[in-house]
Amino acid sequence: MTGAAGFIGSHLCEALVADGVEVLGVDSFTDYYSRERKEANLRALASEPRFALAEADLSTADLGPLLDGRDVVFHLAAQPGVRASWGETFSRYVHDNITATQRLLEQVAASPVPFVHASSSSVYGDAEALPTVEDVTMPRPVSPYGVTKLATEGLGRLYARERGTPVIALRYFTVYGPRQRPDMAFTRFLGAAVRSERITVFGDGEQSRDFTYVADAVDATIRSAAGPPGQVYNVGGGEQASVNDVLARIERLTGRTLDVVRVERQAGDARHTGADTTRARTELGWEPKTPLDEGLAAQLEWARSELG
Ligand SMILES: NC(=O)c1ccc[n+]([C@@H]2O[C@H](COP(=O)([O-])OP(=O)(O)OC[C@H]3O[C@@H](n4cnc5c(N)ncnc54)[C@H](O)[C@@H]3O)[C@@H](O)[C@H]2O)c1
Repeated sequence: MTGAAGFIGSHLCEALVADGVEVLGVDSFTDYYSRERKEANLRALASEPRFALAEADLSTADLGPLLDGRDVVFHLAAQPGVRASWGETFSRYVHDNITATQRLLEQVAASPVPFVHASSSSVYGDAEALPTVEDVTMPRPVSPYGVTKLATEGLGRLYARERGTPVIALRYFTVYGPRQRPDMAFTRFLGAAVRSERITVFGDGEQSRDFTYVADAVDATIRSAAGPPGQVYNVGGGEQASVNDVLARIERLTGRTLDVVRVERQAGDARHTGADTTRARTELGWEPKTPLDEGLAAQLEWARSELG
């Protein structure tokens, strides 16, 4: 399980361990956000005898010992975030997304072990149709990050075709919940709300997302390992909301009027995202279960204890 100290990865490890699975988590603790927060993500796993952690950079480490004897590889490690993917920092996206994924694929290529990897709704960019189906002829990312994620999908397809590797790609749509990354909107908004600070909104706030609660994303991820190999799945929570709508929900939940400042739209932000999840529902028997208000309340509770 790569990216184990991250937001979604730490939840996935906890769910696997709770299912009785032995998990080797791998993470290099990149400095995209603090090591302290990543260690906090792993807090509940520290006392789990079925969980072990290896600190290693997938784009340089000797991967053989990490992959030996594994039954499934869940590859969630990446350099995320659309905004930081422009300019000089792009090289980190190449390193942590493209090179790391290619090295892992090369290592598992000849084995029948399912290789589930995290792609993103960012591959669609400003999708021509909403909700978007997986088979759009030409995904057109609007950020360099999205381009790297599309590249990892392309690599996965190549290894599946040429080497028969059972590769599954998951296009997560804006995942949220406790431990969400500090650069993501809900954590920024809820952190500011609990500290009574000003909230910065990029653009007019009418951009909308298909929000996915982390437990639902984890459920789809685990199910996909037993699904048909070679497939790409949208993983979207099914409840579309604009940023302004989310702010109104936070005001209702906290009983406070938020102090909001609006700044210019950020390059790389798609206007709307929406997942057609028919394929995941049909082939994986998956369905998202957490309504947005319920998930937001859980994240608010976490924000009160960790970000206040
Ligand atoms: N959070 C979302 O809404 C979302 C949406 C779409 C796709 N994704 C994808 O899901 C995955 C998990 O996202 P997240 O939000 O949990 O991010 P995260 O940053 O919290 O977790 C990623 C983890 O990967 C680790 N990592 C990065 N490069 C590494 C390397 N070379 N070797 C070893 N470890 C490395 C980081 O240290 C980090 O702990 C990523 O692949 C991301 O692109 C996330």
